[in-house]
Amino acid sequence: MNRLKIAIQKKGRLSENSHKLLQECGIKFSNGTDVLKTCASNFPVDILFLRDDDIPQYVEQQVADIGILGENIVFEKNREVEILDQLGFAQCRLSLAIPKEELYTGPGWFMNKKIATSYPRLLTRYLAENNLTATIEEISGSVEIAPGIGLAEAVCDIVSSGSTLMTNGLKEVQVIMKSQAVVIASKDLDSEKRKILEKLLFRIRAVRNARENKYILLNAPLESLHDICKILPGMKSPTILPLEEKGWCSIHSVVKEDEFWERIDQLRNAGAQGILVIPIEKMIV
Ligand code: PRP
Ligand code: ZN
Repeated sequence: MNRLKIAIQKKGRLSENSHKLLQECGIKFSNGTDVLKTCASNFPVDILFLRDDDIPQYVEQQVADIGILGENIVFEKNREVEILDQLGFAQCRLSLAIPKEELYTGPGWFMNKKIATSYPRLLTRYLAENNLTATIEEISGSVEIAPGIGLAEAVCDIVSSGSTLMTNGLKEVQVIMKSQAVVIASKDLDSEKRKILEKLLFRIRAVRNARENKYILLNAPLESLHDICKILPGMKSPTILPLEEKGWCSIHSVVKEDEFWERIDQLRNAGAQGILVIPIEKMIV
């Protein structure tokens, strides 16, 4: 039987979350530290553990059918692959950074400077768009050390928490692009693999929706029911159940994680009491 080959990062910023995502999709697989390929026991997928930088090439060449990696690498490598979904984790930015004691005067600062990066394509594009000429020093890792050892005057690299820049005495001065984890796929998958992929994407979306939403229950006096329902749109509309106590009801709904605290304040002001918030395991919309 046909199996879908999924490439994920072996070691690095995305690997733990990529594992977790597949596991939350109900896919069971083992992974020892030296294993480069494993077969899921309960879903028709094989998982390849690769360097994220190589994943676009493997997917283009159909060594892997799909991959989970950062958009930054997809755009840098510019291979013939399709981006299917953003995954909402591994958020970061590709930025230019300079020694912290330097006075930054704007993009013109980079004119005729030497910049170390693992992202020559994206940096070249940025420089061209800003009519800048600079020398690009392409290196494959530990880019932030370049100014400290005299290899370059600035760096263009991924910033997530910013701690790597800080420990290397650098400051972020210009964001070139924002990035997060995405699913990419080969452009010609056969119909059987497409079917497995659709099933997997359905599960991935359910996991992602669940992570981004919370289940909320609260008690409301009937006279504020209308106002409270306006604050809580719910998946279709809120569920309303009567309470034993006269004049009161219980409202069940779903709120977005990132709007959550604001909604709670509005609900309390509208008279809601006994608010319970519960994580959602899976959410199918
Ligand atoms: C990036 C980048 C920095 C680090 C920044 O590595 O190269 O080393 O993350 O993170 P921080 O701002 O939280 O300190 P990434 O995992 O993207 O690259 P790699 O796969 O080339 O190691
Ligand atoms: Zn990498």
